[in-house]
Amino acid sequence: MKVAVVGSGGREHALVTALSQSPKCSAIVAMPGNGGMAGLAECVDIKAADVAGIVAYCAQNGVDYVVVAPEDPLALGLVDALAEVGIPAFGPSAAAARIEASKVFSKALMENYGIPTAAHKSFTQMGPAMAYILQQGRWPVVVKADGLATGKGVLICQNEAEAENALKALFEERRFGAAGASVVVEEFLTGPEVSVLAFCDGEAVVPMLSSMDHKRIYDGDKGPNTGGMGAIAPNPFYTPQMAARCMEEIFLPTMRALAAESAPFKGCLYFGLMLCADGPKVIEYNCRFGDPETQVVLPLLESDLLEIMLACTEGRLTPGMVRFAPGAAACVVIASGGYPGAVQVGFPIKGLAAAEGIPGVHVYHAGTRQSGGQVLTAGGRVLGVAAGAPTLQEALALAYQGVAEITFEGAQYRTDIGKVALEAMQ
Ligand code: AMP
Ligand code: GLY
Repeated sequence: MKVAVVGSGGREHALVTALSQSPKCSAIVAMPGNGGMAGLAECVDIKAADVAGIVAYCAQNGVDYVVVAPEDPLALGLVDALAEVGIPAFGPSAAAARIEASKVFSKALMENYGIPTAAHKSFTQMGPAMAYILQQGRWPVVVKADGLATGKGVLICQNEAEAENALKALFEERRFGAAGASVVVEEFLTGPEVSVLAFCDGEAVVPMLSSMDHKRIYDGDKGPNTGGMGAIAPNPFYTPQMAARCMEEIFLPTMRALAAESAPFKGCLYFGLMLCADGPKVIEYNCRFGDPETQVVLPLLESDLLEIMLACTEGRLTPGMVRFAPGAAACVVIASGGYPGAVQVGFPIKGLAAAEGIPGVHVYHAGTRQSGGQVLTAGGRVLGVAAGAPTLQEALALAYQGVAEITFEGAQYRTDIGKVALEAMQ
């Protein structure tokens, strides 16, 4: 089969790597792909959000199956548009992608179907939102943009002044554009966070190995939220008992709720969970694989990814199809200076070959491009250095060994990926 992968990040590099190992997969094209995929995929310069361009390319170039990785094309209806021309794809319809694309939608879904989440209210105006916050009289309070904001649309406010600034940024300055036209105000929850990616076929839901993201930019979970600065799998807080509870209280009810709303979910559903004192709650849903979670989960997948994806698309997914290897994986993201704010790009990256030469280490490219035999930085998150090993400690040591080999101007990374997990295991 000729498979197209839509997207360009580290997650897509991990997807391409896993798909390339399937005996069923004869060729891969990536749209637009990145500088690390050479040898695995042909990169075609079509933007991930260019729905018409992707459909036309796939129809004209004999693409048999499309894996849509990022949220934007899913929310724009790429899977629906491909179906119209008879090309099957992995990913939800636009209707089902609303579970990520609109927090107002996902919060209402959870409320209506009794799925545990933070207490909340949605607003379209500053005055009523501020009045509600003051009425709660509890700090901190969480203010979220309704729409897609690449993981940065969540503002945690410690006091009245911060809440006012957050609401102003969303409603008046439109920091997240139309994504902030509606705002969700919610209760601040505490507890360990767990990411669970799950294969879904519209009805059945089969969770993958759990993982833990590290969302803040600086060590010790300080600084603003990012798209993710590192990840480990499995997540030690997610015990088998907790997994069973999440299946009953969250995963199955979510699948049923979406089906009841005429939006059955096919693809990878990402459950961002917080394990609170009174039980697990949904912090966020994503309608796709997580980044950088995918870079630690897929390397431990023993089964054929393409076979599983096809089963999801065709509505014949069973738990037996999804097997993981024992052991652990870690991924450390190296970002450009200034990220998650504005960044400068175009700096040469050194040490890639040395890092990749370490047995067990994989370097996933995110924001890179090839130019005249050099690999240059081309985005906020540049690389994810990942490693698998029998234990988390070994996986982390290997990943950081790889990181130590790589340099570029302004490079920044967290030095404490996996620390919380290791402490929890002691
Ligand atoms: P989201 O984009 O909704 O996943 O939010 C990004 C991050 O903000 C989450 O991973 C949490 O660390 C934090 N966060 C979001 N909502 C809450 C909440 N209600 N209480 C505490 N932290 C939150
Ligand atoms: N790692 C968080 C996300 O993929 O949204």
